[in-house]
Amino acid sequence: MSQLNILVTGSSGFLGTHLCAALEARGARLARLNSRNCDLTRQGSLDAYSGERYDLVYHLAAWTQAGDFCLRHPGEQWIINQRINTEVLDWWAAKQPQAKLVFMGTSCAYAPGSKLREDEYMDGEPIESLYTYAMTKRMLYQGARALQRQYGLRYLCAVPSTLYGPGYHVDGRQMHFIFDLIRKIIRGKELGEEVVLWGDGHQKRELVLVDDFVAALLALAGRVDSDLVNIGAGEEFSIRSFAGHICRIVGYAEERIRYDTSRYVGATSKCLDVAKLKRLLPGYRPSALEAGLRSTIAWFYESKAYLQR
Ligand SMILES: NC(=O)c1ccc[n+]([C@@H]2O[C@H](COP(=O)([O-])OP(=O)(O)OC[C@H]3O[C@@H](n4cnc5c(N)ncnc54)[C@H](OP(=O)(O)O)[C@@H]3O)[C@@H](O)[C@H]2O)c1
Repeated sequence: MSQLNILVTGSSGFLGTHLCAALEARGARLARLNSRNCDLTRQGSLDAYSGERYDLVYHLAAWTQAGDFCLRHPGEQWIINQRINTEVLDWWAAKQPQAKLVFMGTSCAYAPGSKLREDEYMDGEPIESLYTYAMTKRMLYQGARALQRQYGLRYLCAVPSTLYGPGYHVDGRQMHFIFDLIRKIIRGKELGEEVVLWGDGHQKRELVLVDDFVAALLALAGRVDSDLVNIGAGEEFSIRSFAGHICRIVGYAEERIRYDTSRYVGATSKCLDVAKLKRLLPGYRPSALEAGLRSTIAWFYESKAYLQR
């Protein structure tokens, strides 16, 4: 088989790093883009890559963070992410129409109360606190659908639940809840800090190990044309349950954790419907939570990521 030529936006991010490693291991030729070598908010930023002919474009770049970031930056998020996505869609249609565009959606695009099933992605209104971010993801999906309809381009929109695993960022940006949980509990154990978690701990979340996600994404990219597919673990756990697992692995007394019910917690439950994923990939078996947490906690210790404030 000939070597695939692939362009990846957001290659320096958490997902991008794992995706590029997997693509490289499969022998692909990669153009790795990030905000420093190709600022996608600038019109024409992709012109430098127009001379190549790509088989696939993985579009991961987005301007966002976890926690209450979306609540505090909705205006900037709209402008920046719309610019990034328009630049990619425009260049794809004009210069790389042969390439399949694989891009990321978000589970928060689903309206509260929906079953989080693919055919409901554009229905109703997203949760208020993540509304703008969610709408930029819906607009990206609509952009790809419109270009598919008019020009016959091919795409895959992958909708991940929250990703976790080794190799997360440690640069002071807000962390997704599971990394924050691990960091706080390790600090409680190693530095004697009080462990305070946001909310009452009964809100539920679904996680998918980043390497499981990448394996599913690569398999789907090879066989799905112009469709949207959820990629999750198919089950969710309460924050208290995650905390209990982490405490046991780290060796910290769970009853010492304090829950601060005055803090922002987002949705009370969020679990993707993965029936379509299982139909498309019958062999899909996500890793057990315990194994995923162990590898993530080991990475926290090795990289000293828990020292990050
Ligand atoms: N992580 C999750 O749990 C999760 C869940 C659902 C969906 N997603 C989606 O998956 C994708 C990847 O997520 P992630 O966690 O890997 O994100 P991340 O770690 O925050 O990485 C974001 C990437 O986007 C790049 N970027 C930001 N602004 C840019 C700009 N103006 N021009 C070019 N590149 C820019 C960053 O480059 P620099 O490093 O140079 O800043 C970085 O490579 C995103 O689209 C996200 O919405 C992630």
